[in-house]
Amino acid sequence: MSQWIKACSLDQVKDGQLFGFNSDEKKILLANQKGKIFATDLICTHADADLSTGFLSEEGVRCPLHLSVFNLQDGKPQNLPAEVPLKTYNVKIEQNEIYVEV
Ligand code: FES
Repeated sequence: MSQWIKACSLDQVKDGQLFGFNSDEKKILLANQKGKIFATDLICTHADADLSTGFLSEEGVRCPLHLSVFNLQDGKPQNLPAEVPLKTYNVKIEQNEIYVEV
């Protein structure tokens, strides 16, 4: 069963920024792409790289290790070596706080 968890305040993920956090066993990445907040898995599907230390662009988040880019809407890798999509999560914003459905 899914539940909404509070991630952080909206001010902690400014336009163009990435933010990683843990909730129980889940590691989640938040990304602010032009004012819209997306949530995906934090760890790259190719190897053990923390995507919050990667780079955000219009195409998505680029892994810092081998440079695959993941689309933030569907989590799909846009280039090799990663082939498996990231899991994506629903996001809502209430009273300046970001919530993620896990
Ligand atoms: S660890 Fe991310 S592309 Fe290899």
